[in-house]
This record gives sequence, C-alpha cells and structure tokens, in this order.
Amino acid sequence: MKELYLNGAFMPPDEARISVMDRGFLFGDGVYEVIPSYGGRFLGLEPHLDRLDASLAALRLANPLARETWRSVLQRLIGTPPAPDQYVYLQITRGAPPERDHLCPESTEPTVMALARPIKPRAPTVAERGVTCITRPDIRWLRGEIKSISLVASVMMRREAADAGALETIMHRDGQVTEGAVSNVFVVTGDELATPPKGHLLLPGITRELALLLARDHGIRFLEHPIPLETLRGADEVWLSSSTREILPVTRLDDRPVGTGLPGPLWRRIDALYQDYKARVREGHV
Ligand code: PDD
Repeated sequence: MKELYLNGAFMPPDEARISVMDRGFLFGDGVYEVIPSYGGRFLGLEPHLDRLDASLAALRLANPLARETWRSVLQRLIGTPPAPDQYVYLQITRGAPPERDHLCPESTEPTVMALARPIKPRAPTVAERGVTCITRPDIRWLRGEIKSISLVASVMMRREAADAGALETIMHRDGQVTEGAVSNVFVVTGDELATPPKGHLLLPGITRELALLLARDHGIRFLEHPIPLETLRGADEVWLSSSTREILPVTRLDDRPVGTGLPGPLWRRIDALYQDYKARVREGHV
C-alpha cells in the first residue's frame, strides 16, 4: 500500500497515527464501508455513500466530507483506469476526546480514514464446487442495518466458521434466517428466489440490491420475505452476497449438501449477469 487517507491528508501507512483515546478504539463508536472497484472504476459508489450517510445519521454523526470530496479521495486511493481491482475500506469514528466517557463532547472532530487493498480473484473451485457454511444463532445487536465497526460478534462467527472448515456462518433469529456474518443470504426453492427483507435485523447489502435488480431486469422472480431456517435447510440453492466476494453458491450447510451439492442453475445465471455487470463497470459503461 503506497498511501492511505487520514484526517484530510494522504500519507504512507507507517506514518499514520491515531490517538489511543479514539472512540473507535475504546468504544467501537464508528461506521465503515467497503466499496469494490474494477479497473479503476467503482461498482456502486453512490449507494455505498448513501448507506454511509444512513449509518452516520443513526449514530448522530455528521458526514465529515462532502460527497464530491469522498469521490475524489476514494478515486485517488484506487488510481485511474486501468488500475488493478481493489476495494476501498473507509472508516469514520466519533474522534478522540480527552476523556473516556460514553457521552462525547459534540465539538469532537471525527477521525476519518480510508485505504485501498487488492481484491483477490475468485478461486475457480468456487464455481465448480461452491462454498461451505455453518448456521448459528444470531447473537448480534438489533441494529444490523447500521454498518457499525463494533464487529466482535461477526469476528466470533467467522472464527467458528473457519474452525469448522467453512467460509461463512449463516445466522438465524427466532427461527428465521437473518444474514451471514459478513454477507447477505439468498435461497432458491423450485423456481422461487427469496431473501430476507430489509429492516433492523440485517445490513441492506449493496450486492444484495444489485442481485435483485439484475433478477428483476432478467425476469427472475424473487420475494423479499422471512426465510424460516427449515426453508434454508431444504433449499435447492443457497447464495451469499457481498461486495468483496460477489455472489457465491453455498453447496454444503452444516455438513449436509445443499440441493444436489453443486452450484445450481439459477446461481450460474445470476453470476453470469453479475460478471457481465462488472465487465461493464470496468469499461466505464455503468
Ligand atoms: N461486509 N451483511 C453484513 C453483516 C456484512 O458485513 C456485509 C458486507 C454484507 C454485504 O453487504 P455489501 O453487499 O454491501 O458488501 C451483509 C463487508 C464486505 C465487510 O465487512 O468486509
């Protein structure tokens, strides 16, 4: 990484310093975004920045940068086309007041940080064999729509998945699927595609929204409605979606095959549509 952005300046990563009093460090009091780019062009920049605004508003934080400034800061971090495929990670915390107190003086300057990292290309085995997931109760708080940096529950869930040799943990609350630790979930039963509805229980994923848009534009019927855990277990196909992992076919769930145990036909269709969309982003056509 050549440089990152911190509080108004670009600098080499090893020159970047923040205070131990930073509320991100002490309280997890902040929000973040992860935005993918292909060939130097962002996929979904505006919806990601809209969701950032919503997360900040929920924490009663003003956005420290104007939209135009965000665009130019983030573009500088990824470089100009044709640049390598990268995602930007950006984070805003409530800043570093002098005292550790849950209440924070309103005058505190937020801490703003952003950096770019390479996107790892998808392994060919994903399309051939799919990925493995486990299920666990959703132990997180009830404001899942906020992209908060307080992620200890997700860290625990991902660890449990890794320990079980799985990629992701799909969570459920009161018998209904919510989302993955770091992804949204889709289920195919027969010719019906479904995903849990937006609300306080899950993050409104930008990839989820794009998948639904592509489905709608190509005549794939879908429903946004609650998905009982048994429906997930009995599904023909299960998918995960996230900005850095795109749309993934889940072929094993809690050590049992999903459907035929291979990536399904509807996943192949949505993945082809998604790859096509990405190619158009790369060429500057969307
Ligand atoms: N995570 N749900 C959760 C809990 C997530 O953390 C994420 C993304 C998603 C998918 O959202 P999107 O399609 O906008 O990436 C859903 C990011 C990638 C992360 O924390 O690294």
